[in-house]
Amino acid sequence: MKPIDLRSDTVTLPSPAMREAMSRAPLGDDVYGEDPTVNQLQEICADLFGKEAALFVASGTMANQVALGVLTRPGDEVICDQGAHPVNFEGGAMPALWGIQPRTLRGDRGLLDPVEVEAAIRPENEHFPRSRVVEIENTHNRGGGSVYPLARVQAIAEVARRRGLDLYLDGARLMNAVVASGVPARDFAEGATLVSLCFSKGLGAPVGSILAGDRDRIRDARRLRKRLGGAMRQAGVLAAAALYALENNVARLAEDHENARMLSGALAALPGVDVPHPVETNLVFAAFRGRSAVDLVARLREAGVLANPEGSRPDLVRFVTHLDVSRDEVLEAARRVAETVAA
Ligand SMILES: Cc1ncc(COP(=O)(O)O)c(C=O)c1O
Repeated sequence: MKPIDLRSDTVTLPSPAMREAMSRAPLGDDVYGEDPTVNQLQEICADLFGKEAALFVASGTMANQVALGVLTRPGDEVICDQGAHPVNFEGGAMPALWGIQPRTLRGDRGLLDPVEVEAAIRPENEHFPRSRVVEIENTHNRGGGSVYPLARVQAIAEVARRRGLDLYLDGARLMNAVVASGVPARDFAEGATLVSLCFSKGLGAPVGSILAGDRDRIRDARRLRKRLGGAMRQAGVLAAAALYALENNVARLAEDHENARMLSGALAALPGVDVPHPVETNLVFAAFRGRSAVDLVARLREAGVLANPEGSRPDLVRFVTHLDVSRDEVLEAARRVAETVAA
Protein backbone atom coordinates (compact mmCIF):
# COMPACT_ATOMS: atom_id res chain seq x y z
CA MET A 1 0.00 0.00 0.00
CA LYS A 2 1.43 3.39 -1.00
CA PRO A 3 1.63 5.60 2.09
CA ILE A 4 -0.10 8.97 1.79
CA ASP A 5 2.32 11.45 3.28
CA LEU A 6 0.56 14.27 5.12
CA ARG A 7 3.34 14.97 7.64
CA SER A 8 4.40 18.28 6.11
CA ASP A 9 4.47 20.31 2.91
CA THR A 10 8.27 20.05 3.16
CA VAL A 11 8.14 16.45 1.87
CA THR A 12 7.32 17.58 -1.68
CA LEU A 13 9.79 16.47 -4.36
CA PRO A 14 10.95 18.65 -7.26
CA SER A 15 8.89 17.81 -10.34
CA PRO A 16 10.54 16.79 -13.65
CA ALA A 17 9.84 20.29 -15.03
CA MET A 18 11.42 21.91 -11.97
CA ARG A 19 14.47 19.67 -12.31
CA GLU A 20 14.69 20.62 -15.97
CA ALA A 21 14.65 24.34 -15.01
CA MET A 22 17.40 23.64 -12.45
CA SER A 23 19.57 21.88 -14.99
CA ARG A 24 19.26 24.75 -17.49
CA ALA A 25 19.96 27.59 -15.02
CA PRO A 26 22.87 29.92 -15.83
CA LEU A 27 25.28 29.82 -12.89
CA GLY A 28 28.14 31.76 -11.31
CA ASP A 29 29.77 32.23 -7.91
CA ASP A 30 27.16 33.86 -5.70
CA VAL A 31 29.73 34.83 -3.05
CA TYR A 32 31.11 37.15 -5.76
CA GLY A 33 27.53 38.20 -6.52
CA GLU A 34 27.94 36.58 -9.95
CA ASP A 35 25.20 33.97 -10.05
CA PRO A 36 22.67 35.35 -12.57
CA THR A 37 19.90 33.01 -11.43
CA VAL A 38 20.31 33.93 -7.75
CA ASN A 39 20.41 37.61 -8.73
CA GLN A 40 17.24 37.22 -10.78
CA LEU A 41 15.45 35.47 -7.90
CA GLN A 42 16.54 38.18 -5.46
CA GLU A 43 15.31 40.96 -7.77
CA ILE A 44 11.97 39.26 -8.38
CA CYS A 45 11.45 38.67 -4.66
CA ALA A 46 12.43 42.22 -3.68
CA ASP A 47 9.74 43.39 -6.11
CA LEU A 48 7.22 40.81 -4.87
CA PHE A 49 7.55 42.22 -1.34
CA GLY A 50 7.93 45.87 -2.36
CA LYS A 51 11.41 46.03 -0.80
CA GLU A 52 14.74 47.36 -2.08
CA ALA A 53 16.69 44.12 -1.91
CA ALA A 54 16.53 40.43 -1.09
CA LEU A 55 18.89 37.62 -0.11
CA PHE A 56 18.65 33.92 -0.97
CA VAL A 57 19.31 31.77 2.13
CA ALA A 58 19.43 28.06 2.82
CA SER A 59 16.30 27.63 4.94
CA GLY A 60 13.45 29.27 6.78
CA THR A 61 15.40 28.89 10.00
CA MET A 62 18.35 30.72 8.48
CA ALA A 63 16.05 33.49 7.22
CA ASN A 64 14.53 33.89 10.69
CA GLN A 65 17.85 33.87 12.50
CA VAL A 66 19.63 36.17 10.08
CA ALA A 67 16.68 38.59 10.33
CA LEU A 68 16.66 38.54 14.13
CA GLY A 69 20.45 38.85 14.21
CA VAL A 70 20.32 41.91 11.95
CA LEU A 71 17.66 43.65 14.02
CA THR A 72 18.97 43.07 17.56
CA ARG A 73 21.93 43.36 19.95
CA PRO A 74 22.65 40.93 22.81
CA GLY A 75 20.24 41.45 25.71
CA ASP A 76 17.37 42.54 23.45
CA GLU A 77 13.88 41.09 23.55
CA VAL A 78 11.70 39.86 20.69
CA ILE A 79 7.92 40.05 21.19
CA CYS A 80 6.20 37.10 19.55
CA ASP A 81 3.54 34.43 19.94
CA GLN A 82 4.27 31.55 22.30
CA GLY A 83 4.00 29.16 19.35
CA ALA A 84 6.43 31.13 17.16
CA HIS A 85 8.77 29.02 15.06
CA PRO A 86 12.02 30.59 16.36
CA VAL A 87 10.90 29.96 19.96
CA ASN A 88 9.97 26.30 19.48
CA PHE A 89 11.68 24.77 16.49
CA GLU A 90 15.06 26.41 15.90
CA GLY A 91 17.19 24.64 18.47
CA GLY A 92 17.37 27.56 20.88
CA ALA A 93 19.01 29.74 18.24
CA MET A 94 17.83 33.11 19.59
CA PRO A 95 19.84 32.92 22.83
CA ALA A 96 22.55 30.67 21.39
CA LEU A 97 23.39 32.81 18.35
CA TRP A 98 22.46 36.37 19.25
CA GLY A 99 22.04 36.49 23.05
CA ILE A 100 18.43 37.62 22.72
CA GLN A 101 15.29 36.45 24.50
CA PRO A 102 11.68 36.05 23.41
CA ARG A 103 8.81 37.69 25.24
CA THR A 104 5.96 35.41 24.32
CA LEU A 105 2.28 36.34 24.13
CA ARG A 106 -0.68 34.00 23.82
CA GLY A 107 -2.01 34.82 20.35
CA ASP A 108 -5.37 33.78 18.97
CA ARG A 109 -4.34 30.79 16.84
CA GLY A 110 -0.89 32.36 16.89
CA LEU A 111 -2.10 35.76 15.72
CA LEU A 112 -1.04 38.62 17.98
CA ASP A 113 -3.29 41.36 19.26
CA PRO A 114 -1.84 44.85 18.64
CA VAL A 115 -3.03 46.08 22.06
CA GLU A 116 -1.23 43.20 23.80
CA VAL A 117 1.86 43.81 21.69
CA GLU A 118 1.95 47.41 22.81
CA ALA A 119 1.43 46.43 26.46
CA ALA A 120 4.38 44.00 26.22
CA ILE A 121 6.84 46.69 25.11
CA ARG A 122 9.10 47.44 28.07
CA PRO A 123 9.52 50.98 29.31
CA GLU A 124 12.98 52.50 29.00
CA ASN A 125 14.68 51.43 32.25
CA GLU A 126 18.07 49.91 32.99
CA HIS A 127 16.41 46.94 34.72
CA PHE A 128 14.60 45.75 31.63
CA PRO A 129 15.67 44.08 28.44
CA ARG A 130 15.32 46.37 25.45
CA SER A 131 12.15 45.50 23.47
CA ARG A 132 13.49 45.58 19.94
CA VAL A 133 11.51 43.46 17.47
CA VAL A 134 7.95 42.27 17.02
CA GLU A 135 7.90 38.93 15.19
CA ILE A 136 4.77 37.63 13.47
CA GLU A 137 4.18 34.46 11.45
CA ASN A 138 1.80 34.40 8.45
CA THR A 139 0.44 31.81 7.99
CA HIS A 140 0.93 30.60 11.55
CA ASN A 141 2.17 27.02 11.75
CA ARG A 142 1.24 26.26 15.37
CA GLY A 143 -1.93 28.28 14.87
CA GLY A 144 -3.08 25.65 12.36
CA GLY A 145 -2.23 27.60 9.21
CA SER A 146 -4.11 30.70 10.36
CA VAL A 147 -4.00 33.80 8.16
CA TYR A 148 -3.51 37.29 9.58
CA PRO A 149 -6.19 39.75 8.52
CA LEU A 150 -4.32 42.56 6.75
CA ALA A 151 -5.76 45.19 9.12
CA ARG A 152 -4.25 43.34 12.08
CA VAL A 153 -0.80 43.21 10.47
CA GLN A 154 -1.10 46.93 9.75
CA ALA A 155 -2.15 47.68 13.34
CA ILE A 156 0.81 45.69 14.73
CA ALA A 157 3.15 47.44 12.28
CA GLU A 158 1.79 50.81 13.42
CA VAL A 159 2.47 49.95 17.09
CA ALA A 160 5.99 48.77 16.25
CA ARG A 161 6.78 51.87 14.18
CA ARG A 162 5.33 54.31 16.74
CA ARG A 163 7.29 52.67 19.58
CA GLY A 164 10.55 52.44 17.64
CA LEU A 165 10.62 48.64 17.18
CA ASP A 166 11.13 46.70 13.97
CA LEU A 167 8.55 44.24 12.66
CA TYR A 168 9.81 40.94 11.27
CA LEU A 169 7.39 38.85 9.22
CA ASP A 170 8.20 35.12 9.15
CA GLY A 171 6.46 34.38 5.88
CA ALA A 172 7.54 30.76 5.54
CA ARG A 173 4.04 30.09 4.13
CA LEU A 174 3.18 33.66 3.13
CA MET A 175 2.01 32.63 -0.35
CA ASN A 176 -0.57 30.36 1.30
CA ALA A 177 -1.84 33.46 3.12
CA VAL A 178 -1.78 35.44 -0.14
CA VAL A 179 -3.77 32.81 -2.04
CA ALA A 180 -6.24 32.26 0.81
CA SER A 181 -6.92 35.96 1.41
CA GLY A 182 -6.34 37.59 -1.97
CA VAL A 183 -4.08 40.14 -0.22
CA PRO A 184 -0.89 40.81 -2.25
CA ALA A 185 2.41 39.77 -0.60
CA ARG A 186 3.67 43.35 -0.69
CA ASP A 187 0.66 44.55 1.34
CA PHE A 188 1.32 42.01 4.07
CA ALA A 189 5.02 43.00 3.97
CA GLU A 190 4.59 46.77 3.84
CA GLY A 191 5.08 47.57 7.53
CA ALA A 192 7.74 44.91 8.09
CA THR A 193 11.42 45.85 8.13
CA LEU A 194 12.29 42.33 6.98
CA VAL A 195 10.12 39.57 5.51
CA SER A 196 10.89 35.97 4.55
CA LEU A 197 9.36 33.28 2.37
CA CYS A 198 10.20 29.56 2.07
CA PHE A 199 10.35 27.87 -1.33
CA SER A 200 10.77 24.40 0.16
CA LYS A 201 7.29 24.07 1.68
CA GLY A 202 4.04 24.27 -0.29
CA LEU A 203 5.86 25.83 -3.25
CA GLY A 204 7.61 22.53 -3.86
CA ALA A 205 11.27 23.52 -4.29
CA PRO A 206 13.89 21.28 -2.65
CA VAL A 207 15.82 24.00 -0.77
CA GLY A 208 15.82 27.68 -0.02
CA SER A 209 14.18 30.76 1.42
CA ILE A 210 14.36 34.47 0.73
CA LEU A 211 14.75 37.42 3.07
CA ALA A 212 13.75 40.88 1.80
CA GLY A 213 14.16 44.40 3.19
CA ASP A 214 16.01 47.66 2.64
CA ARG A 215 19.49 47.68 1.10
CA ASP A 216 21.34 48.31 4.37
CA ARG A 217 19.58 45.53 6.28
CA ILE A 218 20.13 43.08 3.41
CA ARG A 219 23.83 43.99 3.30
CA ASP A 220 24.00 43.21 7.05
CA ALA A 221 22.03 40.01 6.44
CA ARG A 222 24.60 38.95 3.84
CA ARG A 223 27.35 39.27 6.45
CA LEU A 224 25.40 37.18 8.99
CA ARG A 225 24.56 34.58 6.35
CA LYS A 226 28.31 34.28 5.71
CA ARG A 227 28.98 34.01 9.45
CA LEU A 228 26.52 31.13 9.68
CA GLY A 229 28.26 29.33 6.81
CA GLY A 230 25.30 29.93 4.52
CA ALA A 231 27.05 31.73 1.67
CA MET A 232 26.73 29.27 -1.21
CA ARG A 233 28.58 29.28 -4.53
CA GLN A 234 26.67 28.10 -7.65
CA ALA A 235 23.41 28.46 -5.72
CA GLY A 236 21.57 29.32 -8.95
CA VAL A 237 20.84 25.63 -9.36
CA LEU A 238 18.63 26.01 -6.28
CA ALA A 239 17.39 29.51 -7.09
CA ALA A 240 16.14 28.13 -10.42
CA ALA A 241 13.83 25.78 -8.51
CA ALA A 242 12.57 28.72 -6.46
CA LEU A 243 11.93 30.77 -9.63
CA TYR A 244 10.07 27.83 -11.14
CA ALA A 245 8.02 27.49 -7.94
CA LEU A 246 7.06 31.17 -7.97
CA GLU A 247 5.97 30.95 -11.60
CA ASN A 248 4.13 27.65 -11.45
CA ASN A 249 3.20 26.63 -7.93
CA VAL A 250 1.59 29.66 -6.29
CA ALA A 251 -1.95 29.73 -7.71
CA ARG A 252 -2.30 25.97 -7.26
CA LEU A 253 -1.97 26.36 -3.45
CA ALA A 254 -5.75 26.91 -3.62
CA GLU A 255 -6.06 23.17 -4.41
CA ASP A 256 -4.14 22.30 -1.24
CA HIS A 257 -6.45 24.56 0.76
CA GLU A 258 -9.52 22.95 -0.80
CA ASN A 259 -8.14 19.46 -0.05
CA ALA A 260 -7.41 20.51 3.54
CA ARG A 261 -11.00 21.75 3.99
CA MET A 262 -12.29 18.48 2.57
CA LEU A 263 -10.07 16.47 4.94
CA SER A 264 -11.12 18.55 7.94
CA GLY A 265 -14.80 17.99 7.07
CA ALA A 266 -14.24 14.23 6.84
CA LEU A 267 -12.30 14.13 10.13
CA ALA A 268 -14.80 16.31 12.00
CA ALA A 269 -17.55 13.83 11.03
CA LEU A 270 -15.77 10.96 12.81
CA PRO A 271 -16.91 10.01 16.33
CA GLY A 272 -14.45 11.16 18.99
CA VAL A 273 -12.67 13.58 16.66
CA ASP A 274 -12.73 17.38 16.96
CA VAL A 275 -11.31 19.79 14.45
CA PRO A 276 -10.58 22.71 16.78
CA HIS A 277 -10.14 25.44 14.16
CA PRO A 278 -11.69 26.27 10.84
CA VAL A 279 -9.19 25.35 8.14
CA GLU A 280 -7.94 28.44 6.31
CA THR A 281 -4.96 27.06 4.38
CA ASN A 282 -3.18 23.68 4.08
CA LEU A 283 -2.83 22.64 7.74
CA VAL A 284 -5.46 20.50 9.47
CA PHE A 285 -5.34 19.90 13.22
CA ALA A 286 -7.53 17.10 14.57
CA ALA A 287 -7.97 16.21 18.24
CA PHE A 288 -8.63 12.49 18.86
CA ARG A 289 -10.44 12.67 22.21
CA GLY A 290 -8.94 10.47 24.92
CA ARG A 291 -6.22 9.08 22.63
CA SER A 292 -2.49 9.64 22.47
CA ALA A 293 -1.48 11.38 19.25
CA VAL A 294 1.85 9.52 19.32
CA ASP A 295 0.12 6.11 19.44
CA LEU A 296 -2.46 7.11 16.88
CA VAL A 297 0.19 8.35 14.45
CA ALA A 298 1.98 4.97 14.76
CA ARG A 299 -1.28 3.17 13.93
CA LEU A 300 -2.00 5.50 11.06
CA ARG A 301 1.43 4.71 9.64
CA GLU A 302 0.50 1.01 9.59
CA ALA A 303 -2.71 1.97 7.82
CA GLY A 304 -0.76 3.91 5.17
CA VAL A 305 -1.25 7.51 6.35
CA LEU A 306 1.72 9.54 7.53
CA ALA A 307 0.99 12.43 9.90
CA ASN A 308 2.70 14.04 12.89
CA PRO A 309 1.64 14.59 16.49
CA GLU A 310 1.16 18.36 16.64
CA GLY A 311 2.85 18.58 20.01
CA SER A 312 0.97 21.38 21.77
CA ARG A 313 -1.43 18.92 23.43
CA PRO A 314 -1.33 15.13 23.78
CA ASP A 315 -4.29 14.25 21.53
CA LEU A 316 -3.63 16.58 18.59
CA VAL A 317 -2.49 15.31 15.17
CA ARG A 318 -1.40 17.57 12.31
CA PHE A 319 -2.16 16.74 8.67
CA VAL A 320 -0.71 18.88 5.88
CA THR A 321 -1.88 18.92 2.26
CA HIS A 322 0.58 19.72 -0.52
CA LEU A 323 1.28 19.39 -4.23
CA ASP A 324 2.35 15.76 -4.02
CA VAL A 325 -1.03 14.55 -2.70
CA SER A 326 -4.05 14.61 -4.98
CA ARG A 327 -7.68 15.15 -4.02
CA ASP A 328 -8.28 11.39 -4.39
CA GLU A 329 -5.36 10.56 -2.13
CA VAL A 330 -6.66 12.96 0.51
CA LEU A 331 -10.07 11.27 0.32
CA GLU A 332 -8.36 7.88 0.62
CA ALA A 333 -6.37 9.15 3.63
CA ALA A 334 -9.61 10.26 5.30
CA ARG A 335 -11.03 6.77 4.69
CA ARG A 336 -7.95 5.13 6.23
CA VAL A 337 -8.13 7.43 9.27
CA ALA A 338 -11.82 6.54 9.72
CA GLU A 339 -10.99 2.82 9.61
CA THR A 340 -8.16 3.22 12.10
CA VAL A 341 -10.30 5.21 14.52
CA ALA A 342 -13.14 2.64 14.28
CA ALA A 343 -10.85 -0.39 14.81
C1 LIG B 1 6.57 29.38 10.18
C2 LIG B 1 7.88 28.71 9.90
N1 LIG B 1 8.99 29.44 9.90
C3 LIG B 1 10.19 28.90 9.64
C4 LIG B 1 10.33 27.56 9.35
C5 LIG B 1 11.69 26.98 9.13
O1 LIG B 1 11.92 26.51 7.87
P1 LIG B 1 13.11 25.46 7.56
O2 LIG B 1 12.58 24.12 7.91
O3 LIG B 1 13.35 25.67 6.09
O4 LIG B 1 14.29 25.86 8.38
C6 LIG B 1 9.18 26.75 9.33
C7 LIG B 1 9.28 25.32 9.02
O5 LIG B 1 8.33 24.56 9.09
C8 LIG B 1 7.92 27.34 9.62
O6 LIG B 1 6.79 26.61 9.66
